[in-house]
Amino acid sequence: MLYGPFTQCLPMSGLPLHGGLLDEQLSIIEDAGIVIRNGRIVEIGSFESLKEVFPDEQRISISDKKVVALPAFVDCHTHLCWGGNRVHDYALRVAGKSYLEIAETGGGIMDSVRATRAASEEELVAVILNQVQDHLKRGIATIEVKSGYGLSVDDELKMLRAIQTANEQTAAILIPTFLGAHLKPSDFEGSNRDYLEMLIREVVPVIKKEKLAARADIFVEQGAFSIEEAEWYAKEMQDLGFEMTMHVDQFSKGGAELAVSLGCVSADHLEQTQDEAAVRFGNSDTVAVALPGASLGLGMQFTPARTLLDNNASLAIATDWNPGSAPMGDLVTQAALLGASQKLTIVETLAAITYRAGYALRQHVGTIEKGKEARVTIFETDDYRNIFYRQGQLRPHCTIIGSDCNIYD
Ligand code: NIG
Ligand code: FE
Repeated sequence: MLYGPFTQCLPMSGLPLHGGLLDEQLSIIEDAGIVIRNGRIVEIGSFESLKEVFPDEQRISISDKKVVALPAFVDCHTHLCWGGNRVHDYALRVAGKSYLEIAETGGGIMDSVRATRAASEEELVAVILNQVQDHLKRGIATIEVKSGYGLSVDDELKMLRAIQTANEQTAAILIPTFLGAHLKPSDFEGSNRDYLEMLIREVVPVIKKEKLAARADIFVEQGAFSIEEAEWYAKEMQDLGFEMTMHVDQFSKGGAELAVSLGCVSADHLEQTQDEAAVRFGNSDTVAVALPGASLGLGMQFTPARTLLDNNASLAIATDWNPGSAPMGDLVTQAALLGASQKLTIVETLAAITYRAGYALRQHVGTIEKGKEARVTIFETDDYRNIFYRQGQLRPHCTIIGSDCNIYD
């Protein structure tokens, strides 16, 4: 199939993983075509020349309007599997209570834990598929999904199994992450270390046996896990073959340095990260993941994305979509707002939600390249810059995944 013509096609390939990017570095193919066979990209180039080289290919014009094609987006940090909602917390927060205060009184994450424990595996599969469908409509085709609202052996496994089942039923790629170390639940008798040991002893062997996740995460924060506890746990989990990522520097500092020093694949949140820690990212392969949805949800400052890029970090942007701190879940809107506040070039913002987000997941996604599976999102516009200029109000017209083209508007 020969798709096109696209007024602009942005393959996002061949760009560096680290550091700042100028818009001039972006390669834009004008009046482009994409040849896809058996769900794989065979060729990208000028539509006119592709018509000559592939005269027998079925031609598919996506729209009679002008269109721009770019790699489907990657959301490398979500908690989109949950039971219940946290609208009550929201009302308390906007009336002035802090996120940590609400957590201390048994609300917050524990509230979602109670509702998620009460949900069946089938109900969770339905929740995931519903939210994944919303993400597909937003042009996102690779989505990380964490556990972390079960916090018991059975309930963590229930969440991970629900993510695995949902993955088999959607065109999106779901990348599961084990976040049993989100919090020690209030009903666990024992220390934080006892709880982490229990996870390793009782949950991890089943995760391995059923291949439920190859990545693990821990929330390093007051009221969650300390730097020392996280260091011990991360090393154990890395020895067991897991890629580690961490929630760090959201309210208090210090976790980012730990994540980098342990070679975590990413360190996420970073709202409190300062210059000394930013420098460490530049010399490492730990991707710095900004979560503007959590800043917007909690009314807090944004991650210092500009400073991180100026220090040569690999920066990704993700939604953190969760029922508490980040209920919006709209990646393009959030990336546009972070970009405006932090002065990111358009290509830096695009890189952060495509191939650099793919790198945070250690997945080769987020580019349009010959030989790769087709994952292409298409907007009805003649200029890719409108996507961020419109701050999320310009929605994708359709997304090509493999051999299928799903039209959303
Ligand atoms: O990334 N910070 C910790 N965990 C999530 C929030 C989870 C929740 O509030 O339910 C986050 O913001
Ligand atoms: Fe998170």
